[in-house]
Amino acid sequence: MDIARTPSIADGNPQMADAPPVPAQPPLIRRADYKPFPWLVPEIRLHFDLGIETTRVVSTLKVAPNPDAAADDVIRLNGDGLQVSSVKLDGLPVKNWEMDGPDLVLPLSAGEHEVEIVTEVSPEKNSQLMGLYASNGMLCTQCEAEGFRRITFFPDRPDILSTYLVKMEGPVAQFPVLLSNGNKVSAGESAGGRHWAEWHDPWPKPSYLFALVAGDLVARTDSFTTMSGREVDLAVWVRAEDLPRTEHAMDSLKKSMKWDEEAFGREYDLDVFNIVAVSDFNMGAMENKGLNVFNTKYVLADPDTATDGDYDAIEGVIGHEYFHNWSGNRVTCRDWFQLSLKEGFTVLRDQLFSQDMQGEAVKRIEDVRVLRAVQFPEDSGPLAHPIRPDSFREISNFYTATVYNKGAEVLRMMRTMAGPVAFRQGTDLYFERHDGEAATCEDFVKAMEDGAGLDLRQFRLWYSQAGTPKVEVSLTHKGDTATLALKQTVPPTPDRIAKKPMPIPLRLALFDRDSGSHDGEQLVILSEAEKTIAFEGFARSPVLSINRGFSAPVSIEREVSTEDLVFLAAHDDDPFARYEAMQDLVVAHLVAVCSDSLTGAAQEAGRKAIAGALRKVLTDDRLDDSMRGELMMLPGQTYLAEQFLVADPGRIHAEREALKVALGVALESELIALHERASTLPATLDHASRGARKVKAQALVYLAAGNPDVAAKMAAAQYDAAQTMTDRQGALMVLTGLPGVARTDRLIDFYNRYRGNELVVDKWFALQASSLHPDAIEHVKALANHPDFNLRNPNRVRSLYMAFAGNPHAFHAASGEGYRMIADLILALDPINPQTAARFVPPLGRWRRIEPQRAALMRAELERIAATDGLSRDTYEQVTRSLG
Ligand code: BES
Ligand code: ZN
Repeated sequence: MDIARTPSIADGNPQMADAPPVPAQPPLIRRADYKPFPWLVPEIRLHFDLGIETTRVVSTLKVAPNPDAAADDVIRLNGDGLQVSSVKLDGLPVKNWEMDGPDLVLPLSAGEHEVEIVTEVSPEKNSQLMGLYASNGMLCTQCEAEGFRRITFFPDRPDILSTYLVKMEGPVAQFPVLLSNGNKVSAGESAGGRHWAEWHDPWPKPSYLFALVAGDLVARTDSFTTMSGREVDLAVWVRAEDLPRTEHAMDSLKKSMKWDEEAFGREYDLDVFNIVAVSDFNMGAMENKGLNVFNTKYVLADPDTATDGDYDAIEGVIGHEYFHNWSGNRVTCRDWFQLSLKEGFTVLRDQLFSQDMQGEAVKRIEDVRVLRAVQFPEDSGPLAHPIRPDSFREISNFYTATVYNKGAEVLRMMRTMAGPVAFRQGTDLYFERHDGEAATCEDFVKAMEDGAGLDLRQFRLWYSQAGTPKVEVSLTHKGDTATLALKQTVPPTPDRIAKKPMPIPLRLALFDRDSGSHDGEQLVILSEAEKTIAFEGFARSPVLSINRGFSAPVSIEREVSTEDLVFLAAHDDDPFARYEAMQDLVVAHLVAVCSDSLTGAAQEAGRKAIAGALRKVLTDDRLDDSMRGELMMLPGQTYLAEQFLVADPGRIHAEREALKVALGVALESELIALHERASTLPATLDHASRGARKVKAQALVYLAAGNPDVAAKMAAAQYDAAQTMTDRQGALMVLTGLPGVARTDRLIDFYNRYRGNELVVDKWFALQASSLHPDAIEHVKALANHPDFNLRNPNRVRSLYMAFAGNPHAFHAASGEGYRMIADLILALDPINPQTAARFVPPLGRWRRIEPQRAALMRAELERIAATDGLSRDTYEQVTRSLG
C-alpha cells in the first residue's frame, strides 16, 4: 500500500499528531466502497493511568491477517488528535511508522503480531464529549460512532471485533469507583493512595462499544435471575445526592430484562450489568457492553422533579439500551451504513416494550406523532436520505429520525405483514444466524424471508428509497359495491428523482353508517402504482377507516367529508384511527383556512364540527383519560406546515391559535368541569391519575386561549397545590405564555425551589424558550446570559435553544431574529461541540418549504455559516446539504 509521506513526521519520533486542518470538502464515504479490513484484532489489552488533565493509555493489540480480505503490508490505525508516545512491534520499539493525516500507519509482515502503542489524552480539554472526557470530576467515555480513535490508535470500525482486557489505575480519593465492560476480574491498592481494577469482557465487540468510567459514584444495586437461572448483579451508578432518584431506573431495567426474555427470547449474557448517569452527554444514552452510560435525564426521577412523561422516557430509553445487548452488541453492524440494522430494530423493540408496559393505543399515537413531527419533515427536505444511506461525510449526522424512527416503521410493516408469531421466527433466525457477527440490513431481511416466510424482494426498496410515499385514496359506491381506488407515489428526494412503487401494507375497515360497526379488518398490500378493490354487500356507502394503527409510514390523501371524519372520531374501534380522524378534521380545516379557500360561513361550520367532535371527546365517559388527552391534542405546527408545498409559518401559527381560542370559548364549561373532575384524583403514579394529569394540562391549554383570566387563576392554583412535577410544569407552561404577575411569581418560585437541580433548571429554561409569550425571543436572549446557562453542557444548550427552535412564533419571527439567534448559536458551539452544534442546522434547512421572505432570511443565515472558516465536518456537511 502506498501512503502519502508527510515530511515533518516521516522519522517516526515521539511527537504531537496535530489535529489535521479540516479540508475544504471533507471526503464523501460511500456504502458501495466497503472492503473488509486486511487485519483482524482478536484481542486488545488496555492500561489507563487515569488523570483529569492527562491520561496515559497503553494499548496492546494482537493482530493477524484477515483470511477474508486482500493482504496488506501495513496496518492503518485510526486516530483523532492523539499524542503518540511510543510504538512497539512484537515487544521491540519501532520507528518505521508514520502518520497519514490523523491515522497511524505501521508496516507489518504477514503472520500474527503484537502491536503496543502508548498515547496521552487530556480529558479535561475534551469539550466534544467524544472519547475520554471529564464530567463533574469523573472520567467517562463515549465511543460511538468514532470516539475510540480519540483514546488510542485502532481500526475504529464496527466490523473489527475484539475481546477487551482493561486495567485502570488512579488516586482512590478522586476515583473510588473504576468500571469498564464485562466482569471485574481483579482489583487492588497500589502505593501513594492509588488503586487499580481490571475488567474483562469475554464477548468480542467493536471499539464503539468500549467504555470506562472512573469517579466518586454510589450505586443502587439489585439482582435479576435470568430465564436459565443465572444471577446477574445490577447497579445504577450516580452521584451520592442523586441516589434517592434511581428506583424507577432500576425497576425499568428489571422489566426490560424480563420483557426481552418473554417477547424475543433474549437472555442477558454477563454476570453484571452497570448503568452510569452523567450530566454532560451528547445523546440520550449509550449501550456499551455491560456498562451503559446514560444522560442523567434518562435515569433520575422522583415525583417532585420528574413528569409522567419523564418516567415513560426513562423506561423507554433504559429498555432501548438494554435491548441493544442483542440487537447491536451480540449482532453488530458491518459498517455505519447499516446503522438502522441496530437502531431501527432496537427502536421497534423499545416501542413494543413501552406498548406492553404503558398501553398500546396511546404509545402508538405518541410514536406516530414524533414520526410526523420530526421524520416527515426530514424526508421532505434537503437532508432526506433512505434508512440505509448511500454516503456520508460525518456519520454523527446520520443518527436521524429516518434511520431510527422510519427504520422502526419499516420493520413494523414486516411484522404487520408476517404477523407477530412469524416475525418472531424471523428475529430468532436472525439472532441465531448472526450471533457474534457484524451484519448488514440485507442479512436481516434475508433472515426475515427465511424465518418468517415473507417474500421481501420488492419490499427491500424501503431500504434504498427516501421520501414519504403518498397514497391517494378514493372510495366510490354503486349498487351494493364499494370500490376503493389506491394510488401511490414516492416523491423525488435530493438523492434520487425517479422512484419505484413499494409494498405498502394498509389495514382497513369499512363501517356501516347505521350500526357504527364493521365486519372485520382487512390487510391490503398496495404493491403497484395503482390498484382498485371492490367490496360487495354495501347497500349504503360505507365509511372507510384506512391505515389503521398507522400500518404504513405514508401520508394518506383523500377526499373525505367532515361528516365521515366526525363519524370515525366518535366510532372507530381502532384507537389510532379515532385519533387520526380528529387530526384530519383539524388539518383539513386549518389547511383550508390558511389557503383562504373558505367563506366565513364555511369556516364557522368547520369550527362548529370540530367543537362538536371535541365536546364528545371531553364528555365521553367510556374514554380513558390518557386516550382522551391524546384526542384533545391539536396537530402540531410542523405537521401542519408539511401539508403545504410552501408554508407560511406565521399564518399557520395564527390560525392554529385562533382555532384554540374558538374551541376554548365554545367548550369553556366542559373544559372547566373536566379539569375539576381530574383534579380529584390522587398524586400517584397509577394509570388513572396519570391520565387525569394529562387532561388537566390539555384543558388549561385551551382555556388559556379562550379565557386567559380564568386560565391564569386555575393554573396558578394548580401550580400552588401541585404535588407532582407534571402538575407543576403543566401549570407553569400555561402561565409562562400569559402576561401578568402570576407568570413572574411562579417562574421565580420554580427557579428558587429547584436551583441546583440541573434537570429541573433545564425545564425552567425550556418552558420559557417554548412559550407562547409574545416576548419569548427577548426572554431567550436574557436567559443566554443567565449565570446558569453554559454552552459546554448539551442538556442546557438543548433546553434553551432546541426548545426555542421548536417554538414557531419565536423561531419564525418575521424579522428573522430567531434564525439569526440559531445561526449565532451554531457558530459559537461548533468549536466546542460540533456534534451538538450540527443538530441545530435542520430547523434552518427547511427554507425551501417556507414562504419567500422568511426563506431568504433562513438561507442567508446558512450562507453566513457556510462562509465561516474552520467549520467542523459535522456542521459543514449539514449546512452544505441544506443549501443544496
Ligand atoms: N447508540 C445510541 C447512542 C448514540 C447515538 C451514540 C449517536 C453515538 C451517536 C443509543 O442506543 C441511542 O440510540 N440512544 C438514543 C435514545 C434511544 C431511546 C432512541 C439517544 O441517545 O437519543
Ligand atoms: Zn440505540
